[in-house]
Amino acid sequence: MSLLLAFLIKATFAQTPSGIVPEPVSMTKAAGSFTFTSQVKIATGTNPEVRKAAKIFAGQLATSLKCNLKVVDTPTKESCIALQLNKAENKEIGNEGYTLKVNPSGVVISANKPAGIYYGLETFMQLLPTNAEMSKQCKIQSVSIVDYPRFKWRGLMLDVSRHFFSKEFVKKYLDEMAQYKYNVFHWHLSDDAGWRIEIKQYPKLTSVGSLRVPRTGSFYSMIPPQPGEAATDGGYYTQEDIKEIVKYASDRFITIVPEIDIPGHSMGFIASYPQASCDGKQHLVYAGTAGGAGDNVLCAGNEENFTMLSNIFGEIASLFPSEFIHIGGDEVDKSFWKGCPKCQKVMTDNGLKNEHELQSYFIKRVEKIVESKGKKIIGWDEILQGGLAPNAAVMSWQGMEGGIAAAKAGHYVVMTPTSHCYLDYQQGEAAIEGLGGGARISNTYKFEPVPEGVDAKYILGGQGNVWTEFIANERRVEYMTWPRALALSEVYWSPKSKRDWNSFVPRMEAQFERFKNTGVNYAPSVYDPDIYPVKNQDGSIQIGFRTEMTGLDIYYTFDFSFPDNFSAKYDGNPIKAPMGASVICAITYRNGKPVGRLLRINLDDLYKR
Ligand code: ACM
Ligand code: ZN
Repeated sequence: MSLLLAFLIKATFAQTPSGIVPEPVSMTKAAGSFTFTSQVKIATGTNPEVRKAAKIFAGQLATSLKCNLKVVDTPTKESCIALQLNKAENKEIGNEGYTLKVNPSGVVISANKPAGIYYGLETFMQLLPTNAEMSKQCKIQSVSIVDYPRFKWRGLMLDVSRHFFSKEFVKKYLDEMAQYKYNVFHWHLSDDAGWRIEIKQYPKLTSVGSLRVPRTGSFYSMIPPQPGEAATDGGYYTQEDIKEIVKYASDRFITIVPEIDIPGHSMGFIASYPQASCDGKQHLVYAGTAGGAGDNVLCAGNEENFTMLSNIFGEIASLFPSEFIHIGGDEVDKSFWKGCPKCQKVMTDNGLKNEHELQSYFIKRVEKIVESKGKKIIGWDEILQGGLAPNAAVMSWQGMEGGIAAAKAGHYVVMTPTSHCYLDYQQGEAAIEGLGGGARISNTYKFEPVPEGVDAKYILGGQGNVWTEFIANERRVEYMTWPRALALSEVYWSPKSKRDWNSFVPRMEAQFERFKNTGVNYAPSVYDPDIYPVKNQDGSIQIGFRTEMTGLDIYYTFDFSFPDNFSAKYDGNPIKAPMGASVICAITYRNGKPVGRLLRINLDDLYKR
């Protein structure tokens, strides 16, 4: 063997440190290693769901690491990844857990249920190097993993109303979720800016309600629809699309929870069927116009509305196997009900003291409708106002308080407070991210879904929410989702005791390499510093920097030149701008290489923060 060849073989067999997200419950390294090559086979046994999971995993491996593994039924004599459903239940790991053993002779993934096998495979993927060439022939250190989730609801919500995203994109998103062991896709299918699901009995919901005038710009400040302007922007999913996506999700062990947001956030509905609102006038699907033109509500005194909702939820219930249907319930502008004789009559007839109780009346009727279709309701925390419907689960978004109140009253709760879980909030420096930095990943990572004094059995789990008023395209959806959804995957899956930001950072960075391999857009904002004004007692202002990760060097200039590692270096103490300076530029380096993006900020803007 030539020296060069020997060197190459050694190099390709190099071990790379694994970086598993979410962190497993326990992982013990052992002596020796398994030699992985693209000749390794995946042996599934005869269970069709396990076989399907293996095929999906093999497909992912082929896409991300260009590594094509054969899927076979029976374990072979040659090295293989053996997938085994436990004959006797392993009580420790539950329905979604698994054990994964890597030995010199092979890999064995065992689980009680196919979901666990699938999650074991996803963990195995993360034991492989992120480099496609290296992954085709590498050594994986022997290891024994026992793993299972902390919470049973590990969700992401995608708003497809404010902006519509294609069926193909939704599938890609589901793939990304499954790789990080998310199991709930909350699909926000209707809102003021568009109705997105075909309902056979009410075709106008989509022929009218899915389209608005085309606009680009800042949502809530868009130019109003012009006289005679055609509504051409939008889209919807046919029932065939929905069935296809529900199956795609289910094959990846993801439940889709559909949301029809009522009685507020209903302009898609109302534009299609004007008699549904209190004033019965023709309104338009909301195009993000300034000045409240997007708000209206379903009339609580119109019986026809409840008939329509019964028919709509009937179709929804038959399309989605989920136990829950999300009925929205948030941000209802009750002034419409205050001014409506029909609504006021319902209040008098039913002894309702105020519009909060009218909302409760509305939601309780919807609960009965949804239950008659064999489903349970979940709604945003406003459904607590005026009294919670008897069996409703609550999604706590305005903070933890709604969730705490609901859990104390014995209702199930999904925690998703704006403070940590709103993935539409900006994650980095305002000068380049858009709106102000609202939810940095290091903060998201600190999220604790179980508040003190609450019985944990009522906390189903949590989710991240991707509202899309300010997310106009699919690449941006990914940018806002990742890597914060990595942080949340660990919050929802891993034991609380394992939460450790410094251990998470390199594991997150390993996922960045995987994202590059699969063309997933992710935000590198974690490498950019926060810049803040320091206002002194004597009226002078200095400039401070903060980073989320250790090991970053910050370089800056005030003279419009692009900073690099020859520029002034921030030493941790706030600095004073030279007289006359109007702009600061800054960039981060690590180990002598630029890792952050160029930040350029007007000092006047900075000082106003
Ligand atoms: C919400 O953010 N309106 C639930
Ligand atoms: Zn009314």
